[in-house]
Amino acid sequence: MAATILIADDDAVQRRLLDNMVQRCGYRTIVVESGDAAMTVLADETQPIDAVVLDLVMPGLDGLGVLARMRDASLHVPVVVQTAHGGIDNVVSAMRAGAHDFVVKPVGIERLQVSLRNALDASALKGELQRIRHSREGRLTFKDIVTRSEAMAHVLAIGQKAAASAIPVLIEGESGVGKELFARAIHGSSERASKPFVTVNCGAIPDNLVESILFGHEKGAFTGATERHAGKFVEASGGTLFLDEVSELPLTAQVKLLRALQQGEVEAVGGRKPVKVDVRIISATNRNLLNHVKAGHFRDDLFYRLHVLPLTIPPLRARREDIPHLLRHFLARFGAEENRAIARVSAGAMERLVTADWPGNVRQLENAVYRAVVLSDGDELRAEDFPAIVGTDAIGEESPIPAAEALTLPQPSRVPGQDIPIAPAQPVPAMLPHGNLSMLDEQGETRPLEEMEAEIIRFAVSHYRGQMSEVARRLKIGRSTLYRKMDEIGGAASKAEVS
Ligand SMILES: Nc1ncnc2c1ncn2[C@@H]1O[C@H](COP(=O)(O)OP(=O)(O)OP(=O)(O)O)[C@@H](O)[C@H]1O
Ligand SMILES: [Mg+2]
Repeated sequence: MAATILIADDDAVQRRLLDNMVQRCGYRTIVVESGDAAMTVLADETQPIDAVVLDLVMPGLDGLGVLARMRDASLHVPVVVQTAHGGIDNVVSAMRAGAHDFVVKPVGIERLQVSLRNALDASALKGELQRIRHSREGRLTFKDIVTRSEAMAHVLAIGQKAAASAIPVLIEGESGVGKELFARAIHGSSERASKPFVTVNCGAIPDNLVESILFGHEKGAFTGATERHAGKFVEASGGTLFLDEVSELPLTAQVKLLRALQQGEVEAVGGRKPVKVDVRIISATNRNLLNHVKAGHFRDDLFYRLHVLPLTIPPLRARREDIPHLLRHFLARFGAEENRAIARVSAGAMERLVTADWPGNVRQLENAVYRAVVLSDGDELRAEDFPAIVGTDAIGEESPIPAAEALTLPQPSRVPGQDIPIAPAQPVPAMLPHGNLSMLDEQGETRPLEEMEAEIIRFAVSHYRGQMSEVARRLKIGRSTLYRKMDEIGGAASKAEVS
């Protein structure tokens, strides 16, 4: 259930140390001894990796090589690189190549824990921002569905195959399990992605309007039809029509729908001739549609038309391993939206969240997290912040857990690659002593400006843990200027070492 961290290091002693430390932080580990082996694990879709701890210097494919290949393969897993003391050149290259953070060997557990936690949170937030953007642009794909459960992996695999064809899909599942999200992912992963995705909520339209809404009407077809209306089928032309709550469709509309599906054409109310339409149908229901057929409320011939590929999305309580991941995502999003720096979820709260039944499924969890983020006082969410799932038994004092299963919001920072301010930056405390710059040299003369500038930059990079946007913002210089200056410092440093 915990996040899975891939450790890649060619040194056996380092590997053992890191493995032990990362596990003590509460994560699962996969340990490999080369860059190539790391790429193999990362490419394996059945084994999702949440973050990587990567050694930069390895024989064969080295750390920078791994970062380059990850970028080529569009793998967006956050990477924390390990560097030997004084390897600032490497750090610059690694950060440029997309590393999230760096740690200097030998790294202590606290530093590594903060770094991994931030990497996971930033990545969750990035995922959320991407999902929101995709959703707005109608480009949701299966990658936007947050899940780590086998139960869902199976459904996703079928969904992906369905996306490659125009086969009618019927999505069944309780309320709030993500049926619409799934339908949008099928559409967004299909060749119809650039065409419209049109939703009809069959349960929310009055019986007498269903036909005109689905198939359109001519001007004057009935009282109140003052304008010609195209109808959802025509609107969805070339794309996907999502029939939500399809079990609620009145019988008369079912007849017309069946004919439209059989003949690939629709007839507007009051229209003279049918119009050809090319529409892919995805329907959804939170009832058992077959029972509706048996009870005589749903036509069996239509049922078989819609039910060609049935997919059942399991309720959240049947895939509890998804809960910590969903929680991490929702926390990242609401924390950012509400500008709340919530650092973690207490062990007690986590236990209740994972064991609760969630009758409203993912939507209920999403709303519970939203509410908790808005109403909580401290920087930790506790069981009492989730009243919906707290039983009647009194809640005792909880001790904050180390990081095992603890979830954190971004230590306020910026999402790599995005220039969206999330919250004011907070440096990691006690990493360095207070940055006192000595302006005089040992002879009591003023030190060269260049030297002092280099010291300030080095300090700032450590202080903001290599988050270059933040460093640049705080120093009030552009990112490219910062990189250029770091190159110069690095060059000077290595020249100094040589001479
Ligand atoms: N796997 C998931 N990852 C991220 N968000 C999810 C996931 N599943 C559901 N959600 C979110 O939960 C909410 C409910 O999802 P959705 O509307 O797709 O559910 P539904 O099954 O259609 O519900 P209903 O039956 O009530 O219409 C949405 O905000 C959706 O984005
Ligand atoms: Mg829905």
